[in-house]
Amino acid sequence: MKLKDTQALTSFEYKWLLKRIFPYIKPFMGRVILGFLVAIPVGLLDGVVSFSLKPYMDYVVGKQDLAIAGLTIPYMTLAYAMPFAIILFAALQGVLRYLNTYLTDWTSLKITNAVKVDLFSTLVRMDSSFFDQNTSGIILNRYLSDPDTASKGIVDNLTTLIISVFGAVSLVVVMLHSSWKLALVGVVVLGAAFLPVSLIRKKIKSVSNKNMVITGDIMTTMNETYSGNRVITAYNLQERQNKNFNQGIINSFNVTISLTKRVGWMSPIMYMIASCGIAFVLFYGTKLIYDGQMTAGGFASFVTSLLLLYKPVKSLGRTLSHIQNIFVAMGRVFELFDYVPKIIDKENTVQVPEIKNGITFENVCFEYVENKPVLKNINLNVAKGETLAIVGNSGGGKSTIVNLIPRFYDVNSGCIKIDNTDIRDIKLADLRNNISFVFQDNFLFTGTIRENILLAKPDATEEELQQALKASHLQEVISTLPDGLDTLLGERGLTLSGGQRQRVAIARAMIRNTPIIILDEATSALDNESEAIVQKALDNLMQNKTVFVIAHRLSTIKNADRIAVINDGCLVELGTHEQLLNIKDGQYKHLYDMQFKNLEEKTV
Ligand SMILES: Nc1ncnc2c1ncn2[C@@H]1O[C@H](COP(=O)(O)OP(=O)(O)O)[C@@H](O)[C@H]1O
Ligand SMILES: [Mg+2]
Repeated sequence: MKLKDTQALTSFEYKWLLKRIFPYIKPFMGRVILGFLVAIPVGLLDGVVSFSLKPYMDYVVGKQDLAIAGLTIPYMTLAYAMPFAIILFAALQGVLRYLNTYLTDWTSLKITNAVKVDLFSTLVRMDSSFFDQNTSGIILNRYLSDPDTASKGIVDNLTTLIISVFGAVSLVVVMLHSSWKLALVGVVVLGAAFLPVSLIRKKIKSVSNKNMVITGDIMTTMNETYSGNRVITAYNLQERQNKNFNQGIINSFNVTISLTKRVGWMSPIMYMIASCGIAFVLFYGTKLIYDGQMTAGGFASFVTSLLLLYKPVKSLGRTLSHIQNIFVAMGRVFELFDYVPKIIDKENTVQVPEIKNGITFENVCFEYVENKPVLKNINLNVAKGETLAIVGNSGGGKSTIVNLIPRFYDVNSGCIKIDNTDIRDIKLADLRNNISFVFQDNFLFTGTIRENILLAKPDATEEELQQALKASHLQEVISTLPDGLDTLLGERGLTLSGGQRQRVAIARAMIRNTPIIILDEATSALDNESEAIVQKALDNLMQNKTVFVIAHRLSTIKNADRIAVINDGCLVELGTHEQLLNIKDGQYKHLYDMQFKNLEEKTV
């Protein structure tokens, strides 16, 4: 699945999306509802000030006592009480607002975290092909930023929506109280705010999707600047990086501004409509007062409400377009949840029995990209305890063959069997627990050397650890380090030399003590001296194991029980060193003459 090409098809299916996000909201439902409940009075209190204008104007300014429910309140009492009441209400609204902000932030963060944690757990299970197809930036963006947008915003904006709606409603009620005819005008003004949002939601979605890709590209440039810093320095690529980054920023600007172009007019248009409404109300209100249908206080209260109404209406417009954005991000998030990796456990998996016979490739065909076959009908049998060396032309498919064994990828046709069990019938974790892989460039995690080795077997005893250190020739390295085994490695272990990193990786493989060992050019990146030490370490690792080794060192190849020659995806020759050398015009002999012999002469 290419994350770039998202359709986010479900972005407008609000009901479906809400159903999907609901399980994440549910555990915090009490607080979410409390937050919403608190939001209601916060909104309603908006109407209080304008509501109080009417009695203030009519009674205090007009010097009349207020008769209410059989009580008579002198106008002077009102005059003194009302300013205090307003302060009291403002204070009350302040407290409620604080409570609301706290509840909103608390719940939205909790919900976001829950979504992120679940989404991340789907990411770590993805197949190799998923990581081949997607850049780090896009992955960061979709697995980290999108859940933020999707769930942090939801509670936040719903609260704002509630405050705005109830604010608007309370003001409309005050208006109705003053004059229902005028209030109608207000409601029309309010209604006009909703229209443009539905017109621009497609635009919002397309901009949001484009922005996701662009931001992903920017993040990828960032990552490459970090990981590729040596190459950037060595080849003076600083300008190239600057250009890439600038381009990303420009693209992001263009996309964002295109949305502003479309959305930016919403607010002024609403303001225009509101102004027309106010103008009309002034005109009509004057008439009502002159006709004696309305008091001056009522009118003042009404106009104030109408003016105050502008704020919640504007915020409604903005919130609705935010919510649109949230739904688009949610569409993308739940699209990811529904993406099931291709390589997963079958329903009825079996345990790997102790290997008795060996590993068999039966008519294995494989392609990374459709219609570009990489492996063509490979048949091969490696007996238990046998070491098979794989040689062949570069790009011929050697790494691909060994990548199929732990199921980084699955065969397209044919099958791979351990003893007589198809590896696809074996529990994935179990299969992988039986295989140790040493690559040309092994990833070390940020942390200590000890941590990096124990990753492979957290419950290893000190004795096992020491044994692994000894066998991997790491002891010499460790004794020179100030903190020994507890020396902190930089990101990706870059503070060690290539040979040292390789030995840590071998120790890691060693401590697992798996029956199958795969070595893919494990010494190729090293100089002769470290290669010799690493080779000794590897020899220890390979003892009594079933081994697949891809190497260019003649001694490694010669020492293997058999050699498989892979040429452009086909197994062309298979046999011992002597057997293969005796094939007239054979591929192995050719390779030997061209490559191994010379290398060997140089090494010795
Ligand atoms: N992840 C991948 N996605 C697409 N093509 C790939 C991938 N890895 C390798 N290939 C292609 O598959 C072919 C075999 O690659 P590989 O097995 O790495 O060769 P070797 O290890 O023999 O040098 C090459 O043409 C290579 O370009
Ligand atoms: Mg390779």
